[in-house]
Amino acid sequence: MTPIHTIAILGGTGNEGPGLALRWAKAGYRVLIGSRQQEKADRVANELNTKLSAYPTENPIEGVTNPEAARTCDVAVLTVPYQAQNPLLEHLRSDLQGKVLICVTVALNPPKVTQVYSPPEGSASEQAQAILGSGVAVVAAFQNVGAYHLENLEHPVACDVLVCGDKKSAKTIAIELAEAIGSRGIDAGPLVNARAVEGLTSILIGINKRYKVPGSGIHITGMEIPTTL
Ligand SMILES: NC(=O)c1ccc[n+]([C@@H]2O[C@H](COP(=O)([O-])OP(=O)(O)OC[C@H]3O[C@@H](n4cnc5c(N)ncnc54)[C@H](OP(=O)(O)O)[C@@H]3O)[C@@H](O)[C@H]2O)c1
Repeated sequence: MTPIHTIAILGGTGNEGPGLALRWAKAGYRVLIGSRQQEKADRVANELNTKLSAYPTENPIEGVTNPEAARTCDVAVLTVPYQAQNPLLEHLRSDLQGKVLICVTVALNPPKVTQVYSPPEGSASEQAQAILGSGVAVVAAFQNVGAYHLENLEHPVACDVLVCGDKKSAKTIAIELAEAIGSRGIDAGPLVNARAVEGLTSILIGINKRYKVPGSGIHITGMEIPTTL
């Protein structure tokens, strides 16, 4: 394990953030749930710690505000709706300097969420990098992992996590965190490739609707080799 001590999940009170928090806390990381409201962060952290009480964990999940989470963490993970991403990152820009930001946000264009949407900036992840500047290493990951798979700790996460980014050391961290949730992290190239990965999420949402399944996902075949960089 590389020395990641504290993971902050910005907007961690929704659907995707809590499942990631549970999995990483169970794997031994210190996890902060960030929110716009301290009370909401506390409530969600308490609920998650109740679920975790059945497992031997080193650190309870803590609820904090997004700015405190961004300031305190080594690695930040962004799980907010696309429309909320830019203002939140502009607000947290200085707190995130020098850190890795794992962008789980997907550029979706409601109500047409089953159609691939290409924002002017290319992808939510590239937009995040443009806002935060070169002092923050943005990595796109986990966009194809549905919340359904994460929330029940007894349920295996059988899909792959495609990791896109321009800095190898940051991708190595995201791959480690993919493996910590019981998945397989795969280097999928530079950050520009997040356009395709985010587009896949729209396709998966459409598959879920058409086939009435709770969480379709992806698995890359033909590479039964270690994926560690
Ligand atoms: N859900 C999935 O299965 C899934 C799978 C893959 C990727 N994703 C992507 O992950 C991201 C999060 O998905 P989600 O389903 O967890 O979203 P969500 O439940 O709708 O929202 C997550 C959190 O974002 C915060 N938020 C909402 N509006 C905000 C605003 N205007 N400003 C700042 N914060 C705001 C809220 O936290 P507070 O109110 O506590 O601040 C909320 O609990 C999305 O971009 C989604 O496309 C989701």
